[in-house]
Amino acid sequence: MAERKDDHVRIALEHERDRRGRPSDLDDVELVHHALDGIDPARVTLDIDVAGMAWRSPVYVNGMTGGTAHTGDVNRTLAIAARESDLPIASGSVSIALDDPSRAPYFRVLRDEHPHGFVLANVGADRSADDARRAVALLDADALQVHLNAAQELVMPEGSTRFDTWAPSIAAICEAVDVPVIVKEVGAGLSGRTVARLRDLGVDVADVGGTGGTDFVRVENDRRAARDFAYLGGWGLSTPACLLDAQDAGLPLLASGGIRHPLDVVRALALGARAVGVASRFLAVAVEGGEQALVDEMRLWRDHVRAILALVGAASPADAVHADVLVRGRLRELAELRGID
Ligand code: FNR
Repeated sequence: MAERKDDHVRIALEHERDRRGRPSDLDDVELVHHALDGIDPARVTLDIDVAGMAWRSPVYVNGMTGGTAHTGDVNRTLAIAARESDLPIASGSVSIALDDPSRAPYFRVLRDEHPHGFVLANVGADRSADDARRAVALLDADALQVHLNAAQELVMPEGSTRFDTWAPSIAAICEAVDVPVIVKEVGAGLSGRTVARLRDLGVDVADVGGTGGTDFVRVENDRRAARDFAYLGGWGLSTPACLLDAQDAGLPLLASGGIRHPLDVVRALALGARAVGVASRFLAVAVEGGEQALVDEMRLWRDHVRAILALVGAASPADAVHADVLVRGRLRELAELRGID
C-alpha cells in the first residue's frame, strides 16, 4: 500500500503535465461580461460558510496523500503553504495509518504545520464508524471527507469491491462522528441522484469530484503493464455536469476535479458550488517548485479569484451564483438530456 502512495503522486504529476492546455467541460461555462457590473475588488470578501463551517477561502486543498516519508514531505509543503495563504486542507486517505500507526506522523504533519487552520481527515466509505472517529482524532480534524472511488477500486487488482456496503457504512459514519461529513468522489463525479441519496444517509456536504482532472482509472492503469481497463479512462461525469445535475439535490455542494486556474473556480461558484477543491495542480507546484512557489501560487489564486468575482459583480463567493452564465457545447447537450435549464 505504501508503494501505491508514492506511485500515485508520481503518475498523477505526469498526467497533470500532459493535461496542461487541454480543453475541459469547464470551458463550456461562459461568464457573460457585463461592462457595468463590476465592483471594487477591495469590497470582495473571500469568506464563505459551507454548511456551518466558516472558511476563509473558497479554494481548498483537496485530499491527496500521506503515509510514506516522501508523501509526508509533500504534506508538509502543502500544509505550510495552506497556512501561509489561509486555505483549508484535506489529508489523503488515512487508512494506511489506521492499520499501521507508525505511519501517522506523515499525516499528522498537516495539523502540526497548520495548527489553527481548517483541516479535514479522509477515509474510504468501507471504513467502520470507529475508524472514522480515529481518523478525525488523528488530525484533530474540523471535518471528515469520505471518498467514493468505485472505478478506481475495480481497476486496482488489490481493490476492494464490496460497493453495496458503502451506503450503510456512510450512514454509520455520519452517526458516529461529531464533525461535518463531506462525501467526495475522487474524479468520476457525483450525479444528482447520488447526492440525493447522500442527503438521506445523513451526509452534510457533497464534493462532486468530477472528471476533467486526475483520473484514477488512468493512474491505476499506468501502475502496471497489464492495462486491462485502458478503455475505461474518462469514466464519469464532468465537474460542471455534476454541479448542474445535483443543483436541486438538497445538499450544499463543493466542486473539484480538473480545476486549472482561478477562472475555473469562479465558474464553479457561479454554477452553485460553495467552494472549490484543487488537488493535482497544487501538488505539481509543490513538487516542482517547493514551498515558496506554492505559497506564491495560492496567494495568486486568492487574488485572482477576488479579481474575477469583482469583474462579475460578486461581493463574496456565495454571490457568484447571481452571475450571468451561458452553458455551451457538450455541457449544454448533457444538461438538455438531463432536463436541466
Ligand atoms: C488524490 N485524491 C484522493 N482523494 C481522496 O479522497 N483520498 C485520497 O487518498 C486521494 N489520493 C490522491 C492522490 C493523488 C496523488 C491525487 C492527485 C489525488 C483525489 C483528489 O482529492 C481529487 O478528487 C482528484 O485528484 C481530482 O482533482 P484534481 O487533481 O483534478 O484537481
